[in-house]
Amino acid sequence: MPNKIKHWLSGSHVVRNYRNIYPYIEPYKIRALMAILITIPVGMMDAIIAWALKPYMDVVMIEKNLSASSYIPILIIFFSLLQSGFNYLATYLNAWVGAKISCSLKYNLFKKLMRYDSIFFDRNTSGNIQMRFNSDVDSACTGLLNNMKLFTTRVFSSVSLISVLLINSWKLAAVAIIVLVGAIYPLTTIRKRIGSILAKTVYSGAAIMTHYIEAFNGNRIIASYNLYDRLQKKFSDTLASVFTLSMKMIQRTGILSPMMHFIISIGIAAVIWLGSYLVACDDLTPGGFVSFITALLLLYQPVKSIGNDYNAMQVSLMAMERVFDLLNESPSIVNSPSAKKLKFIKSSICYQNVYFEYVEDKPALENINLEIKVGETIAFVGNSGGGKTTLVNLLPRFYDIKSGKILIDGHDIRDIELDSLRDKIAIVFQDNFLFSGTIRENIMVGRENATEDDLKQAIESSCMNEFIESLELGIETEIGERGVLLSGGQKQRVAIARAFLKNATIVILDEATSALDNKSEAIVQKAIENLMKDRTVFVIAHRLSTVRNADKIVVVNHGKIKEIGSHDELINREGSEYASLYYTQLSS
Ligand SMILES: Nc1ncnc2c1ncn2[C@@H]1O[C@H](COP(=O)(O)OP(=O)(O)OP(=O)(O)O)[C@@H](O)[C@H]1O
Ligand SMILES: [Mg+2]
Repeated sequence: MPNKIKHWLSGSHVVRNYRNIYPYIEPYKIRALMAILITIPVGMMDAIIAWALKPYMDVVMIEKNLSASSYIPILIIFFSLLQSGFNYLATYLNAWVGAKISCSLKYNLFKKLMRYDSIFFDRNTSGNIQMRFNSDVDSACTGLLNNMKLFTTRVFSSVSLISVLLINSWKLAAVAIIVLVGAIYPLTTIRKRIGSILAKTVYSGAAIMTHYIEAFNGNRIIASYNLYDRLQKKFSDTLASVFTLSMKMIQRTGILSPMMHFIISIGIAAVIWLGSYLVACDDLTPGGFVSFITALLLLYQPVKSIGNDYNAMQVSLMAMERVFDLLNESPSIVNSPSAKKLKFIKSSICYQNVYFEYVEDKPALENINLEIKVGETIAFVGNSGGGKTTLVNLLPRFYDIKSGKILIDGHDIRDIELDSLRDKIAIVFQDNFLFSGTIRENIMVGRENATEDDLKQAIESSCMNEFIESLELGIETEIGERGVLLSGGQKQRVAIARAFLKNATIVILDEATSALDNKSEAIVQKAIENLMKDRTVFVIAHRLSTVRNADKIVVVNHGKIKEIGSHDELINREGSEYASLYYTQLSS
């Protein structure tokens, strides 16, 4: 038991959290300090009424001396006015500091979010991100401020009210304080009671968010597969678990406030009983007694609500812990201390004995050995799930390999500055992400400072002229979230134009045409051929007509390289998988 109290008093989690958050308060420390200082008189003025009641009762009521009857009410009005003004100022300053802290936390989290490795995004759902990056910050910041304000007000209010108690009667005060401590004690168990439930609540909250996001993003699939009932059922299961959790939370915390209320009522009863006795023995004046009871009621009121406040404070402290867990987590794919800038690529890119796994002991790629000379085109074909995408994703370091080496001009890519490495690589995926905004903005993603001429050139090379001319607003046309207002082929060409503008040495094309019909494929194919000219190209394609002219064709199956060679070499090789694939496609 003493350990529990020690832990509560030391509040290690509180200290750790405040140490984490302090750098965010630091720039606004003067205002934050002012906000706290103002709450001191706000708290202390709580005692004025109680304190004034003793002379009022003893002088005005009992001695019937009316001279004091006019200044006491005026004094009360004056101090209440002052207290209200200060209170408003404190609320405003607190909200200001809080909003600033919340903004800078969110800004830093956003910066961090963009820098996480692919692994982070593989493991987290969008609902999870929304909860942890947005809701948790709000909860942490509001909590922090309310706590600071409530805490200082309560402390100073308590100190001044306890002084009034002591001035009036130390014996009664001793009884009151003992009850007070007894009433607060159950609070020490709150954190333990709610810790695990809260973690599960956050998880379910994120699940709910994910349902919404999937209903939004997947609306066409939902409609075409008639998934309404199934998704409703899943959503209602999640809601049920949220309901159970909130009920568990109430079961464990809801008893605290009523319990405190009961203990405090016992305290008040004891004080009234003992107080009447003291007044009867002339140990206490009637005014002193009224003043004491008023101070006591004023003191117990906040104590009674402390149960809920403390509960809310723990909730926000835990939110803050989650926020700082995220902020303090460091991405594993970063620049090594000795990383050098990659200025240009002179000779070649080499994969040496590359081994990679997504899941421990389940190799996704094994024993990969490849050499690609600058200016060459290398094509990857093979079974679905064979590891082609994984293989090309290792080059821009979306994932780091587990063993072996990937070298550019003999330098390990882990010793190259990440930004300079990625600057040299333009990627066109099968499903390209477009930002909400105009076509221009989406192409300019390729190179921020590109000139109008560069832009024109990119549009022409990606065969977009005709399409853009047909639009009333041309290149300034808004394309909707994720480019929903464009067709598949149009989206694909925006992505190609973007890669053109980047003008990178290496181009990676991952199934860039597989989603298209023949007509759009022909246009996109032309755009792709333009993009491949004079570059080092990694191309993945199911249609072997696309890869025929590559300098090297690599067959990747089950995470291993099965064959390497030119089209002519492989087609004539006995038992070649490429040859059988090729003839199957040719005949169909
Ligand atoms: N982010 C990931 N986390 C875990 N496993 C993954 C991940 N991405 C791919 N895999 C697994 O790695 C293997 C190789 O996948 P990859 O996407 O490289 O195949 P692919 O050859 O590109 O297939 P496709 O031709 O269908 O595009 C697959 O078994 C896949 O399930
Ligand atoms: Mg793939």
